[in-house]
Parts: sequence; C-alpha cells; structure tokens
Amino acid sequence: MRTQVGIIGAGPAGLMLSHLLHLEGIESVVLEAHTRQYVEERVRAGVLEQATVDLMVETGLGARLKQEGLLHNGIKLSFGGCRHRIDFRDLTPGRTITVYAQQEILKDLIQARLDSGGQIHFDVSAVSLHGLDTAAPVIRYRAGGDSREIHCDFLAGCDGSHGVSRTSIPAGALAVFERTYPFAWLGILAEAPPASEEPIYSHHQQGFALFSMRSPKITRLYLQCAPDEDLDQWPDSRIWEALRTRHATSDGWRPVEGPILQKGITGMRSFVVEPMQFGRLFLAGDAAHIVPPTGAKGMNLAIADVRVLARGLAEFYASGRKDLLDQYSATCLRRVWKVQRFSWWMTSMLHRFDAEDGFEYRRQLAELDYVTGSRAASMSLAENYVGLPMDY
Ligand code: APR
Ligand code: PHB
Repeated sequence: MRTQVGIIGAGPAGLMLSHLLHLEGIESVVLEAHTRQYVEERVRAGVLEQATVDLMVETGLGARLKQEGLLHNGIKLSFGGCRHRIDFRDLTPGRTITVYAQQEILKDLIQARLDSGGQIHFDVSAVSLHGLDTAAPVIRYRAGGDSREIHCDFLAGCDGSHGVSRTSIPAGALAVFERTYPFAWLGILAEAPPASEEPIYSHHQQGFALFSMRSPKITRLYLQCAPDEDLDQWPDSRIWEALRTRHATSDGWRPVEGPILQKGITGMRSFVVEPMQFGRLFLAGDAAHIVPPTGAKGMNLAIADVRVLARGLAEFYASGRKDLLDQYSATCLRRVWKVQRFSWWMTSMLHRFDAEDGFEYRRQLAELDYVTGSRAASMSLAENYVGLPMDY
C-alpha cells in the first residue's frame, strides 16, 4: 500500500491531522492498535480551548459540539473555605472554554473521516517504522493475521506516550526533559446533576480536589491521591466523604452525590522530548510531550501540534518548500513549553506535596489569594486557561 502521510495512532492528534490533511487534498492512512469501540469509549478529560473549538467549527466538525458542549465563562478556585471566580468573559473577552469529552471529539473525527472515505485501520499490531531518515519511510504492521506494509512520504507519530514512534528514533537523537509529581488523581464519573455550572479547583489540607462535569446528568470529579493508590481502598462512601471535605466552603456548597459509574487513577508528570522530529518522522501530542491534567491542556496541545504539521505538509505538497516543516519542532516547542509552565504552575499551586510542610501550605494560600485578588494575575491565569493564541 502507498500513501502520502502514514499516521500512527487514532487519538486527537492522529485523527485531527488526518482530517486537516484531507481538507488540503492530502492522503493519509491512520493505524490504531485498539478497536474503534475501545477508542470511542475510553474516558479521558474534556476541556476545549477556544482555538480548539474554533478549529472544530471551521473544519466542519462543530455541529454536535455546539449542541452538546457545555460553554463555561469561568472557573472557580476554592481555598480557605471560600470559592473565588475567574471570569473569562471579563478577563479574556470573546475567549472561553467548552467542556466536551475527548471521546466525543474522537467519535466526530472518526465519523467525518469515514464519511469522506478516509482510511483508519483499527485493531492493528506489531507496528514498526523503517527508513525514517530516507525520503521513503515505510510502516510495517499486522492486521487480520497478515503482515502489511505502507510506503509513505512522511510519518506522523501520534501514538501517545507509550507508542512505538518515539522509541523508533535512535537513542541520543532526542533530549528528554521530565518532572514527576509525588501524587496522582483518582477520577470518577458520577450519575448526579452538576451542582456548579463551572469547574471548581479546590486547595485543601488533605489534598487537591477538582469538580467538573460532562452533562446535565453526569458529574466528573477528581481527588489528589498517592501515585500507587489502591482503588480497592476507596469505596464510594470514602470518595464522597473526601470530596465533601476538600470542596467544603463556608456557604455550605457541596457536590450532589450519586452512583459512581466509573473510577480510575491518572498519573501526574511533565515530559518533553526535543526535537519533535527525526528525518521524515514528526512526533505530535503525547508522543512528544505530557502535561499534568491540572491545566486541562493535553488534548488542546496535541491538536495545536497537528495544526502546525498540517500547515507544513500542505506547503510542501503545494510548493515543494520544506521551510515550515523544518521549523515544525521549534514552532511547536515554543507553545509546548509555555503550556508546560502553566500546567506545572497550576499543579504546584493547588496540590499538597508534603503534608508536613507548613511554609509551603501558607505560601500556596498566599499565591491563591494573590491570583484571585489581582486583576493582572487573574488575567494571566485566564489567558493561559482559555488557550494562548496560535502563534505560527
Ligand atoms: N500502534 C498503533 N496505535 C498505537 C500504538 C501502536 N504501537 N501505540 C499507541 N497507539 C494508539 C493508542 O491506542 C491511542 O489510541 O495511539 C493513540 C494515541 O492517542 P492519545 O494517547 O490520545 O494521544 P494524542 O492523540 O497525542 O492525544 C493526547 O490524549 O490521552 C489524552 O491526556 C491525553 O489529552 C491528551 C491527549
Ligand atoms: C475534566 O473535565 O475532565 C477536567 C477538567 C479540568 C481539568 C482536568 C480535567 O483541569
């Protein structure tokens, strides 16, 4: 088989890239290790920056998002028994966020690709990449018990943090920058009407808690826990008790409780590789960088990468010029590090690193007091949260 761009991974990065290339008349084939059902049901985060929403709408994928997405004009920071609102409408006019689950985005992208004759091969295995530093890279893989090959002009490694793409790059060709955090998130989906219209980030002695939602009937909540937390030690009653405690405020607000439909632990780390390219292989999304979920940036950053890549590939196929492709890594990394900074900052301000460190605890409270009390500091948080402008 032959195609112009071989894409490994049907996550937000791979599917959006295939969609954008299609709109430029560029062919691509997407290879995905899991089944379509698994990809469409995998519970992940769901906060979309303004630029991500605009791109979905501009490229014809806005219908369901507009109908079912929950628009938010702000978030709340809760500490010292009070909630404080960060008002996006006031601080970043015209730019807000939309809550729309990642798997819904994937459903829309997969449907759009298949409706326009796009090739997505699910349930493949043994993917390997060859000839990365040649003008004719090849992907080998197994599907339906057969060995297959795809001859490509370019490869896009959109296969996440545990994929094959990054590890196909010779050791030493990439520099790795990493920060791990001494905690994780225990996340739940609950069948309960959201008691707040906007996400609430709560700082508490016991640890961080996040209140979010998925629909008028489904609430999404997270608790700071140990990296190796045993879910069996967390019966529903203990989860609700911890959420009540950490979100408690003097006005008596509390999340509405209900049956817990799903629970899971999400690790917390910051990770970047440089450069995001090796020969004709371009890394995008979690294959090149991981952010802790505190800033809700992972999916948005993955989509920002492939906008830059699609633009570079479109220029190459239109004019043969490679300068945008040659700048791909540098262009993406400027944004990646700004988003890393914001996600690290939100994580550092809101989580308990050491339960005994009173100085750190009071420093965090002072930072929260400053951020919510200063217009300049609130605006800085808001403009990062709704998404920095695409500066390519
Ligand atoms: N062969 C084929 N497919 C693979 C392979 C492989 N060897 N390894 C991984 N994949 C697939 C995974 O099954 C997954 O569907 O690649 C896809 C990668 O998707 P994501 O992990 O979602 O990565 P990305 O598209 O970069 O999106 C990043 O997704 O996970 C969230 O929090 C993350 O928000 C971030 C966003
Ligand atoms: C979510 O709704 O899943 C969510 C919201 C905000 C975050 C992370 C996740 O920072």
